[in-house]
Amino acid sequence: MKQTYLRFQVEQSQQVQQTIVDFLKENTINDELTSSMIYSIEAGGKRFRPMLFLSTLLFLKKDIELVDYDIAGAIEMVHTYSLIHDDLPAMDNDDLRRGKATNHVVYGESTAILAGDGLLTESFHLISSSHIKPNYAILLVKELAQASGGSGMISGQMADIAAEKQQVSLSTLQKIHSEKTGALIVAAVKMACLMCDTPKELTDFLIGYAEHIGLAFQIRDDLLDVLGSEADIGKPIGSDVGLGKSTYVSLLGIHGAKIAFEKECHKSSEMLEKAKLHIGYNAEEVTYLDDMLQQLKEKI
Ligand code: IPE
Ligand code: IPE
Ligand code: MG
Ligand code: MG
Ligand code: MG
Repeated sequence: MKQTYLRFQVEQSQQVQQTIVDFLKENTINDELTSSMIYSIEAGGKRFRPMLFLSTLLFLKKDIELVDYDIAGAIEMVHTYSLIHDDLPAMDNDDLRRGKATNHVVYGESTAILAGDGLLTESFHLISSSHIKPNYAILLVKELAQASGGSGMISGQMADIAAEKQQVSLSTLQKIHSEKTGALIVAAVKMACLMCDTPKELTDFLIGYAEHIGLAFQIRDDLLDVLGSEADIGKPIGSDVGLGKSTYVSLLGIHGAKIAFEKECHKSSEMLEKAKLHIGYNAEEVTYLDDMLQQLKEKI
């Protein structure tokens, strides 16, 4: 991994986090609610989705401006809300997230539910009050809402719960993963394309990159539930097995899941190469989107 991407990741993640925390402090009047929302944001995480948004902007040769941190922050707020709710007793019932006690363990279930509600709602507040041209803001909000709503992440979360203790087909599982995890990852890339008025053909290549990296991301998550360590991934190991979740590992075994992961990474890389060719990068030029794919493959 090139040192430059790692430095970029650390610096930009800090900016994104600061943007979110400042916005929440300004816009939430209940101290307990503010504290609960900020707790989960400051717990950290890989910031994969905001980094994907920012890296796609740079790929498209757009400089990063202040408004871009609002958009990146909004995407991360939706993601963090989804994790708070995903961990609730009625969902996956986990007590560790990002290396810390889960939100409901610290603040209680009702506050955790409301913190999730608050983060989701404030994400749209953040985009719509950012200094983006209004027609762009509407398109961004639409994209984020669609990806995280009833035909995206939430649909996937419903299907994930319904598939517990069931034998589902590989195509059903792929659909679940693409919705619950892939949709928001694809949205991060699409939102960058929107900001850059990217032509359709190039957008489609980048969406292809994102769809495959998104699927690879959740297959990796399934693998780490078995192969990872609590210290490394900051969440409990064996949670999926305990709940009888349908995962790539439960369906294909560790070896099969690893092969599926490699396949998705390869397809993602192929789409990225097409996008690079289209925009006129030299064949050997490595972009942050390559680095993100590379980083995903580490430790698997
Ligand atoms: C965890 O997401 C839930 C999935 C969709 C796999 P991440 O693996 O991105 O979690 P953080 O943000 O790094 O904590
Ligand atoms: C979560 O998938 C997906 C969303 C939060 C939308 P998982 O339930 O596998 O995520 P982890 O493993 O708890 O992070
Ligand atoms: Mg879950
Ligand atoms: Mg979970
Ligand atoms: Mg998981």
